[in-house]
Amino acid sequence: MHLFNNSGYGDKKHRVHENMSILQQLEIKHPILLAPMAGVSTPELAAEVSNSGGLGSLGLGASNLSSAREQILQTQALTDAPFQVNFFCHQPQVLNEQEAQCWINYLKPEFERFNATPPQALDCIYPSFLDNDDFLNLILETQPKAASFHFGIPSTHQIQALKNSGIITLVSATNLTEAKAIEAAGIDIIIAQGIEAGGHRGIFNADMDGAVRTADLVQLINQHCKKPVIAAGGIMNGRQARQLMNLGAQAVQLGTAFVQCKTSNANAAYRQALLNQPLTQITSSISGRPARGIINHWHTQIDHPERPSVPAYPYTYDLAKQLHAVANQMGDHGFGAFWAGSNVAQIREIEARDLINQLVLEMCE
Ligand SMILES: Cc1cc2nc3c(=O)[nH]c(=O)nc-3n(C[C@H](O)[C@H](O)[C@H](O)COP(=O)(O)O)c2cc1C
Repeated sequence: MHLFNNSGYGDKKHRVHENMSILQQLEIKHPILLAPMAGVSTPELAAEVSNSGGLGSLGLGASNLSSAREQILQTQALTDAPFQVNFFCHQPQVLNEQEAQCWINYLKPEFERFNATPPQALDCIYPSFLDNDDFLNLILETQPKAASFHFGIPSTHQIQALKNSGIITLVSATNLTEAKAIEAAGIDIIIAQGIEAGGHRGIFNADMDGAVRTADLVQLINQHCKKPVIAAGGIMNGRQARQLMNLGAQAVQLGTAFVQCKTSNANAAYRQALLNQPLTQITSSISGRPARGIINHWHTQIDHPERPSVPAYPYTYDLAKQLHAVANQMGDHGFGAFWAGSNVAQIREIEARDLINQLVLEMCE
């Protein structure tokens, strides 16, 4: 089934034209994007989605240059269809050493429970796309169809270089102010990431979180911006996707629904948690930025009204990953970052190509 024409979802009139343009822009058959998911995305999953008529994605924000290159080349070997690559645009942060020591001390007893000692200092474990042009040059060299960004907007020369190279650009917005800044920067497509979304909120400044629902955000951005909007957050079936498209989204982006697919990189404990403990909450304790995941020790033991303030992203994540590693070794999976959206209880055990087909059918019902 082809959703390129007005084949039966949504209230259309002027939407048909806009919808055609986003499908044409991205050269995809269905208005469905696999969310980029650092640590969970794989070339196999991206290619499966692209080969099924959606837009596959690689979450490369946690990858170094050579691993990012390898994943892009592997995906290109598995599909001729378009896909997107995704990077993080967080502003470089200066670590407050006193805050970092306080946080390390706070988590020390947790390390000791697993006969381990915490590190003495925290590292900046993820690069930002803004740090230098290494990742930009990789995109220009490998030429994926689209490049998307989380936590902020690439710099002016980077956007211009992507445009000159014909690469479609997308940036996540969690509120109207961010959407306006994205549009003003000349980005092609705005991703409206609602509060329901699994994983990190793409918010530029976490102190200013309006916690807007996906449906409200789609309408807000649609009313105030001209650029096409893609809805992300809490979408698990075609009916929800269609509702958001009726509100003005021209496509949808799903993350959580794809995490359980065989071709994702999720480990057994994560897959089990998605099915057996489908309750989520947002915390900044894992990485230093607000992110939604399955409730575990981070929410029940570490988060506390009197806990110290968390160090900057991604320094906090360095400690969380080390604590998870020692706990995991002793069979305790409760310190994992099991990112999931608030509708995770609706997850279906289904492969990526079948999920795309099912979503398309449901969107047309
Ligand atoms: C496991 C996981 C990892 C994610 N990693 C990224 C990422 O690397 N980059 C990004 O832009 N968004 C990331 N996100 C957020 C998604 O882009 C998207 O906003 C979210 O999945 C939508 O909500 P849903 O999970 O309810 O479908 C991630 C989401 C999940 C569930």
